[in-house]
Amino acid sequence: MNQKIKKAVIPAAGLGTRFLPVTKAVPKEMIPIIDKPMIHYIVEEAVQSGIEDIVLITSRHKEDLERYFDYNYELEDRLMKSGKEDWAKQLKIIAESCNIICAYQKEPAGLGHAVGCAKAVIGNETFAVLLGDDLIDAKVPCTKQLMAIYEKHGVSTVGVMEVPEEDVIKYGIVGGTPIDDRTFKVTTMVEKPKKEEAPSRFAIPGRYIVDAKIFNHIKETKPGRGGEVQFTDALLNLAKKDGLLAYQFEGDRYDTGDRLGYLDATITFGLRRPELREGLLALMRKHFK
Ligand code: G1P
Repeated sequence: MNQKIKKAVIPAAGLGTRFLPVTKAVPKEMIPIIDKPMIHYIVEEAVQSGIEDIVLITSRHKEDLERYFDYNYELEDRLMKSGKEDWAKQLKIIAESCNIICAYQKEPAGLGHAVGCAKAVIGNETFAVLLGDDLIDAKVPCTKQLMAIYEKHGVSTVGVMEVPEEDVIKYGIVGGTPIDDRTFKVTTMVEKPKKEEAPSRFAIPGRYIVDAKIFNHIKETKPGRGGEVQFTDALLNLAKKDGLLAYQFEGDRYDTGDRLGYLDATITFGLRRPELREGLLALMRKHFK
């Protein structure tokens, strides 16, 4: 029986340049989809997958992230006293849903480097990595689906989805040999390849289950694309030496780091909220006239 995964890393140290100017002063992870910051959805996916400890990799000027997952005693007290107990409870639930441990990435040296900053907290355990720009809407949380594959095979696993040829340049792309309908053994991986250099159209939208051996591979990974220590390059070494599976998860993915992907997620989640649905549909009809 493979070990249950209880720890996750959420890299959140990026500059958020795709969302300037707001990210000049607001961490991109704090931008809300309706009324919850994006990071809240990611933490929810982790918690619903059974994660107990989350290592948030942050950087200077990102204190808001830590504050969001802390108690706000004064606000909770005021809400209680003004008859808004439900709200007070909901705010407490956010702070109590898991342990958030913040680790600093002191220099913007790439995603591989960012994950490496969690080493002291993760130790020797297999852990999940969830990237904050990718919101995955699924009946069974994507991370939980990957955990099931890890539990079955005992091998690190990345989530993949098929993307159009012109989009391979946006992602880490994997290639490999099939094990079953949805799973394959990874033999090659390229970070943001040109379409003629892509080994397949299977892209990693930011969900991973990785053995702690990845930390050694990160240490040995030289800066690659863009002069950064790429997580994809470290994963390829892990694949070659220790094995790596790719699993085509079930669910819809939204690239919330992109303005249109962000609007798509906002409309989708808005339509699902009973108190907003009718009003939002009326707004949409107005714009279609
Ligand atoms: C990162 C990873 C890439 C992955 C992508 C998913 O790239 O490096 O392998 O496919 O996230 O969103 P970024 O989008 O941060 O440049």
